[in-house]
Amino acid sequence: MNFELQQVTRRFHGKTAVDQVTLTIPHGQMVGIIGRSGAGKSTLLRMINRLVDPSEGVIRFGDLDVSKLKGAALRRWQSDCAMIFQQFNLVPRLDVLTNVLLGRLNRRSTLSSVLGLFTREERILAIAALERLGIEQTALQAAGTLSGGQQQRVAIARALMQEPKMLLADEPIASLDPLNAKIVMDSLRDINEREGITVITNLHTLDTARSYCERIIGMAQGRVVFDGPPDALTAQAVSAIYGTGRDGVGIDESMTSTALPASAIAAQVGATPSAREGSMANA
Ligand SMILES: Nc1ncnc2c1ncn2[C@@H]1O[C@H](COP(=O)(O)OP(=O)(O)OP(=O)(O)O)[C@@H](O)[C@H]1O
Ligand SMILES: [Mg+2]
Repeated sequence: MNFELQQVTRRFHGKTAVDQVTLTIPHGQMVGIIGRSGAGKSTLLRMINRLVDPSEGVIRFGDLDVSKLKGAALRRWQSDCAMIFQQFNLVPRLDVLTNVLLGRLNRRSTLSSVLGLFTREERILAIAALERLGIEQTALQAAGTLSGGQQQRVAIARALMQEPKMLLADEPIASLDPLNAKIVMDSLRDINEREGITVITNLHTLDTARSYCERIIGMAQGRVVFDGPPDALTAQAVSAIYGTGRDGVGIDESMTSTALPASAIAAQVGATPSAREGSMANA
């Protein structure tokens, strides 16, 4: 089922944040959105799950007119396209398992949600989601005591509990060190490949978009200025997205990257699998 944006525009107090964006995203694609700060990336994602309403244009998922949804139908849609944020948006004082179970909220009655009456099946699903992300050993810890990378994996597990049709991620790795960034991006890719869920993620580093996304959308001043596979992202396309540097000097791709040199990542990654396996075996 295709997901479509037709001439979607959003203005804030006369300023245009997203300007007539038209896109078709086939089901199951892994899409990266890149662009400078203020280009409209977050506004675009927020319109997709209707945290922000478009000023103009139509958003469709198959036959469903997403831009017109209200009430229960809107809540169902918001549950169908789970969102992951840079700052994780967990409830820090609640334990990890409960945070993951909160992903079920939109599927249950308010009363049973308020009373915390999660079923045995839901708890089993939540543990399975944590296992999938390799953090089941943290289930009973307060979410706020986890590392950033672990917290983002909890947020992904919570998103999985929504059994979403799409996964939207707004700079999911911007607060993480390179090793945790890799673990989180690998998880998103794994979900995209194994569940076939469409993943649309804003990224502030070009190299991440290149290595993980089959399709890259470049935005500048609210408009789509590039849309294609990583191979097509030439230096010219990069400068159309990020603009040329001051003094007419072209942008250096490394300026858009926070990655460590490959050797440093290799050293860190080399140290990880055993650490992860060790903690899983102990769980
Ligand atoms: N709620 C709002 N009220 C007023 N202006 C807003 C609002 N949200 C976004 N904007 C403006 O819309 C433009 C696009 O913002 P947006 O957050 O979508 O950019 P972005 O590409 O996500 O940037 P960043 O990389 O810094 O996250 C900016 O000029 C921003 O100031
Ligand atoms: Mg943003």
